[in-house]
Amino acid sequence: MKKKHTMSDQPKETSKQINRRGFISKSALFGAGMAVTPLAFASENHASTKKSMNNPTVRNGKRMLGTLEVSPIGLGCMSMKSGSYNPPRDKKDMIPVIRGAVNLGVTFFDTAEVYGPFTDEELVGEALQPIRDKVVIASKFGFELSTGSRGGRNSRPENIRNAVEGMLKRLRTDRIDLLYLHRLDPNVPIEDVAGTVKDLIKEGKALHFGLSEVSPSTIRKAHAEQQVSALQSEYSLIQRALENEVIDTCGELGIGFVPWGPVCRGFLGDKFNEYSRFSEDSRFAAVPYFTPEAIKAHMEVLNLVREWGRRKDATPAQISLAWLLSQKPFIVPIPGTTKLHHVKQNQGALNISFTDAEKIEFRTALEKIPLVGVRAPESALVDQ
Ligand SMILES: NC(=O)c1ccc[n+]([C@@H]2O[C@H](COP(=O)([O-])OP(=O)(O)OC[C@H]3O[C@@H](n4cnc5c(N)ncnc54)[C@H](OP(=O)(O)O)[C@@H]3O)[C@@H](O)[C@H]2O)c1
Repeated sequence: MKKKHTMSDQPKETSKQINRRGFISKSALFGAGMAVTPLAFASENHASTKKSMNNPTVRNGKRMLGTLEVSPIGLGCMSMKSGSYNPPRDKKDMIPVIRGAVNLGVTFFDTAEVYGPFTDEELVGEALQPIRDKVVIASKFGFELSTGSRGGRNSRPENIRNAVEGMLKRLRTDRIDLLYLHRLDPNVPIEDVAGTVKDLIKEGKALHFGLSEVSPSTIRKAHAEQQVSALQSEYSLIQRALENEVIDTCGELGIGFVPWGPVCRGFLGDKFNEYSRFSEDSRFAAVPYFTPEAIKAHMEVLNLVREWGRRKDATPAQISLAWLLSQKPFIVPIPGTTKLHHVKQNQGALNISFTDAEKIEFRTALEKIPLVGVRAPESALVDQ
């Protein structure tokens, strides 16, 4: 059951009254300049093709997350220093991956204070400092990290503000282009989180607001308080629960959708086989769609992807990313990788397209494959 938002530890006043009171007088005019609708963006863009003029979520080969323009494929930096799927990599090896990605056309970089904690932001900040104005940096707050390791969820306004001050230093910048709530704190109403980010946007410390793994009703409540530019949640050929209302809600509200786990944590990059097994301390061991039974079942999805790869002269990772891109024009996957040749390969997905008939053929085959250990569609309607 979804835990109800409670304010039990703020008995005398609502957290909104307590925590935002001090911010009200600080509003600068920065937010006014951001108030451009996606449609205005598209119609002002004379170089756009006719197709992109009619589609406010695509322009000049870029995609729009609300009013934020990004490369159609971003780079997830989580596993570089925090070593989620691999041992932590050396900074001297990862900086060339990040800078090399920019040379390959990637302008959208994803990190979070909890990755490490802090070490991934430090890496991203150092790598992108010389080209800061050419890129979009997204980071996330939402956990208690005051002891230097990951605690529970904490989105109290003072914690959000502390997080942002730390991010600005680690990322070596004066603004976070896209500031996400990483996970909803059941003790803080989403309106208070959105209100705090709204104040940070007015102060110029953040430019856009994002959410991660929340329900359509939470998206709506947040968006009513502060325009949400992007929702980042897990979505791939295997993990498709968010097709239940969430992606449509983003489309309706003009919010971009950023799938994390777009190559299913490497599975759709053909990194494993049906005999792959994970040690207990591996991050994969806790993932229900990586049990031996699930891996065996999902080989059928991989085989389908390989078959489309043969038809389109593409790798499984490229087909998996191209499929996501083809679902909606406001979808921007952020595959994570520690290898520049994988960044290059993933960018190749931009050259693959599916006709409407091919999309139907692909989905018909996909939906016949039984999945194991994936999220139920109803889970998409509940904050994670
Ligand atoms: N909002 C959230 O709660 C949340 C949660 C998790 C992640 N994220 C973000 O989303 C990003 C992406 O998600 P993810 O990293 O969990 O999953 P992912 O992108 O689906 O998978 C990453 C794995 O795929 C492999 N890979 C990437 N491209 C490949 C290719 N072309 N061929 C073969 N293997 C390839 C990588 O290995 P190599 O290093 O060997 O290339 C890596 O181990 C993260 O980096 C992070 O920024 C957000």
